[in-house]
Amino acid sequence: MKSAPWWKEATIYQIYPRSFFDSNGDGEGDLPGVTSQLDYVKNLGVDAIWLSPFYTSPNKDGGYDVANPRDVDPRFGNLDDAKELIAQAHKRNLRVIADIVPNHFSDQHEWFQAALKAGRGSKERERFHFYDANPDGTTPNNWISLFGGPSWTQVADGQFYLHLFDSSQPDLNWENPEVNADFEKTLRFWIDLGVDGFRIDVAHGLVKEDVLTNHPDPQGLSDALRLDVAMDSEVRNALLLTVPYFDRQGVHEIYRKWRKLFDSYGQREIMAVAEAWVHPPVNATRYVRADELHQVFNFDLLTAEFDSNVLFDVVERSISLNATVNALPTWALSNHDSPRVASRIGEEQARALALFVFGLPGSTYIFAGQELGLPDGQLQDSDRQDPTFFRTNGQIKGRDGARVPLPWSGDTTPFGFSTGKPWLPISQSWKDLTVESELANPKSSLHLYRNALELRKEFLVGAGGITWLESSQHGHKGDSLLSYSRGAITVVMNLSDSAVECDADGRLLIVSGGTVDARDGKKVIPARSTAWFLA
Ligand code: NOJ
Repeated sequence: MKSAPWWKEATIYQIYPRSFFDSNGDGEGDLPGVTSQLDYVKNLGVDAIWLSPFYTSPNKDGGYDVANPRDVDPRFGNLDDAKELIAQAHKRNLRVIADIVPNHFSDQHEWFQAALKAGRGSKERERFHFYDANPDGTTPNNWISLFGGPSWTQVADGQFYLHLFDSSQPDLNWENPEVNADFEKTLRFWIDLGVDGFRIDVAHGLVKEDVLTNHPDPQGLSDALRLDVAMDSEVRNALLLTVPYFDRQGVHEIYRKWRKLFDSYGQREIMAVAEAWVHPPVNATRYVRADELHQVFNFDLLTAEFDSNVLFDVVERSISLNATVNALPTWALSNHDSPRVASRIGEEQARALALFVFGLPGSTYIFAGQELGLPDGQLQDSDRQDPTFFRTNGQIKGRDGARVPLPWSGDTTPFGFSTGKPWLPISQSWKDLTVESELANPKSSLHLYRNALELRKEFLVGAGGITWLESSQHGHKGDSLLSYSRGAITVVMNLSDSAVECDADGRLLIVSGGTVDARDGKKVIPARSTAWFLA
C-alpha cells in the first residue's frame, strides 16, 4: 500500500528566523542560529519546519517585503547558510517549508526601482498596479490598506501605485505573464536548493478586480478585515463578501499551474499551504481541490473563544468542509501575526486546547515558543517595529508582542538568545519559561508538547476521522466537555472551571494539567484540562 504523503498529517513548526536564535551576537536570529538548534526542533517531535521569510529585504514588514526572492538577506546569513540549514534538517528527517510572497515585492526590488525610472505607460510599470490620479487629484479608488491609511502612494510623476499592505510593498500585477514566470523561477530555485514545500503568503490576494471602482464602505471593509476590531458578526460577514481584491476566481488558475510545477518533482512530494483569509469559509476549500494546493490554513482557532460551542463549530466545520474536497484540515493556535494563545485564552486553556487539537485529523502548525507556553511580550511603544503601529498612528499596537525572541537558557535576559541586545526586549519574567528550565521541569509545557507529539505519532496519525462523544450536539455535558474518539484514543477536554466526571474508557495516556482522578468507575477531568485515554 502506498503510504500517505509526508505532509498529510504532519506537525509543522513555524520558525520566525529573526526571533529564533542569534548565532553572531547582532541581536537578531539568523539561519545558522536555526541550524544550531535543529536537534531541539527534532526532539520536539515535529515533521517539518516552516521558515518565515529570510530573503533580501529592507525589513519594513518583517521580511514580507521581499527585495530579492532568490537570495538571503545578510542579516540572516547567505545562500550557503540556507543550503546547510536544509541539509542539516534533512539529515534529521525534518522537511523544510519556505515562505513565498507573491502578492507584492518590496519597493527596493529591482523591478519596482525600474518602474519608477521608466515612467507612466512603460512595460516596467505594468508589473505593478500604476494608475493616474483622478481628475481632481485624488487616489484611483478609495481602498484602505490592511495596515491602515490609503492603499495608494503617489510617485514623483503623479501616478499612484497600489499596495494592500505597507507603502513599501507594491502589489504585483498578476495579469502580466512576466510575474508568474518570475515566481515559477523562484519556486524552482528553492525546490532545486532542497526545500520541500511553500507557505504562500496572501494566497487569496493575487488577482484584483475593479481596481478603478470605489468600495461603498471602505472603512467598514477595513474594520471587517481587521480581527482586532469588534463588529457584529452579521455585519462583518456581509462586508467580507464584498472584498474586491481577495479570493477572485483568477487565483485558482495560478495555483493550478503551480500544482503542475510541484507535481513535476514527483517523488519529492513538494507541497504548498495557502494563507487565504476568505469568506464564506467554504471558499477556503477551493484552494485545496485535487488540482490546486495541498493545504489551506484554518485561522478560526486563532480567534476562537475557549468555549465548547464555539470550538465544536470550528472543528466540525473545518473537518466537514475539507472532506467535501477530500482534504484534511489544518490547525493553528498561534502565528507571527496574532496574539500568542497563552495570552489570548490563558495558559492552562492553551495547553488544554493544544492537546485537544493534537488528536484531530489533519496537519498541526506550532508557532515557535508556543511549546514553551510563552505569552506575548510586553513592549513599550518605543520598541515597536510593526508597520501597522506606525500606519495607524499607534492606535493599533501591531504584532511585535508575538515576535519577541525565544528564551533559551540561563537566569538573565536575553536568556541565551543572543550575546548582544535582542531586537525586541525579552522580559526577565520569562526566567522559568526558557528551554533549559522547561526541560528540567517534567510538568512544563515543553514536556507536554514533546510527550503529546510522540503519542500522536504512535496512535493518531492516519487513524481516520473522529466520532464526537461530548459536544453541544452529543452526549450530556457538552457545555463543559468536548470529547471525541479517534482510533484507539478518547480525547476529553474540560473547558469549565471545575472538575467534571466523564465516562471515557481506557488508560490515561496524558493530561494537559492537573490530575485525572477515578470516582465510581468514572474519570474526573480537572478544570481547564484535556486528557487522552487509550482503549
Ligand atoms: C501575511 C503575513 O503573515 C504577514 O506577516 C504580512 O505582514 C502580510 N501577509 C503581508 O505580506
